[in-house]
Amino acid sequence: MKYKIFTFGCQLNFDDSKNIEIFLKKKGFINAQKLDDSDLVVINTCTVRQHAEDKALSLIGSLKRWKETNKDRKLIVSGCASEKLGEELKKRFEFIDYVIGAKSYNKIYEIIEKEFPQKPINTNLNLNYDVSAYQTISRGCNMKCSYCIVPYVRGNEITIEFKKIIEEVYKKAKNNVKEIILLGQTVNSYFDRSEKKDFVDLIREISQIDEIKIIRFLSSHPLFFNEKFFDEYRRNPKISRWIHLPLQSGSNRILKIMRRGYTVERFKEIVKELKKIDTKTSISTDIIVGYTSETEEDFLMTLNAVREIRFSFAYCFKYSPRFNDKEPLTISVEELEKRHQIILSEVKKIAKELINEKKGEVEEAIIYKGSSGKTHTGYNCCIIDSREVEGSFVKFKVTEIKNNTLYGRIYE
Ligand code: 5AD
Ligand code: SF4
Repeated sequence: MKYKIFTFGCQLNFDDSKNIEIFLKKKGFINAQKLDDSDLVVINTCTVRQHAEDKALSLIGSLKRWKETNKDRKLIVSGCASEKLGEELKKRFEFIDYVIGAKSYNKIYEIIEKEFPQKPINTNLNLNYDVSAYQTISRGCNMKCSYCIVPYVRGNEITIEFKKIIEEVYKKAKNNVKEIILLGQTVNSYFDRSEKKDFVDLIREISQIDEIKIIRFLSSHPLFFNEKFFDEYRRNPKISRWIHLPLQSGSNRILKIMRRGYTVERFKEIVKELKKIDTKTSISTDIIVGYTSETEEDFLMTLNAVREIRFSFAYCFKYSPRFNDKEPLTISVEELEKRHQIILSEVKKIAKELINEKKGEVEEAIIYKGSSGKTHTGYNCCIIDSREVEGSFVKFKVTEIKNNTLYGRIYE
């Protein structure tokens, strides 16, 4: 049997897809090279912005011929767009076998069991993880940012048991993993009630695993930064020196109607503290332009914040209304496009200046494959004077910067 999995959206979806893949491989399935060879197709969808949803829908549409060529083939559509559209999806694309919403993502395992009842043949499957691996620590989100559909399609936050996470990370560490990327919608709000363990406790415990050299996490929410985290950041060199911290807007008025729970001033304070603790810290962010009622002035505040904070990178999104009659787009599409272009070019300019400042610096990095990897500070890098061992942790001096990549030589 052969499978093909298509994944859209965030890292959480990619981690879910990876787990489905492991499950299928244990059952003896193999990854199909071509669509026409596959007996099972899973489409793991996203709906955070209209564009993401549209991409998934167009892929589903293109599978009609594949499904109708052989009715025994199974098509499962899962994820966030499935949760949002539900039965509507089945009506629109009658050839879909199963629609599984993000809230009931576990059902996919039962369905695969039912449709492909063969027993696992590969229980000791050598889990060939890459050097870098994801670890989901919570699902869903308890925040209700006004623009965001995630809490509705993924539901309230459910945290994975502390012990279970440690067990899984430990298993990954024994299978080649050196860099763990903890995942959650608001990853740093983690709290295991029964064990009374929070995000920092989790980081501390994972740091005890020798093989794990870098602990990254996505995405943190400014609201959940506290002294306990800052102390740990000071003491624990395994914590990634690149932190993704979504700002969304630089206008306090907009932040308030977005229900983000912080001000621009507080955001800047957090960034300042992180950089004070380690001057190498690089901060990336998410920004939405054109949110409901955003004036030219609000937009200029965002632009100013971008100039002041100097992000190593920023994902800039055009506001995409997700709720029928609430929070509509209040500027013209042309204006939206214009603001998007302005912020993008500013972000790019600053990112370029920052990466260029790395020339001559000594950076630490983890090698993923061959001679390339990622620095502690989140930059892609390439070691030119030696072929390092996969997974090793190296220090190098940056000699050149090309295509957003730091090139350099080992520094003893
Ligand atoms: N429109 C545009 N961007 C959005 N995001 C979330 N919802 C929307 C929306 N409706 C962005 C936010 C979030 C990132 C994952 O997606 O910036 O941090
Ligand atoms: Fe959406 Fe993130 Fe806000 Fe949760 S914290 S509602 S996932 S933007």
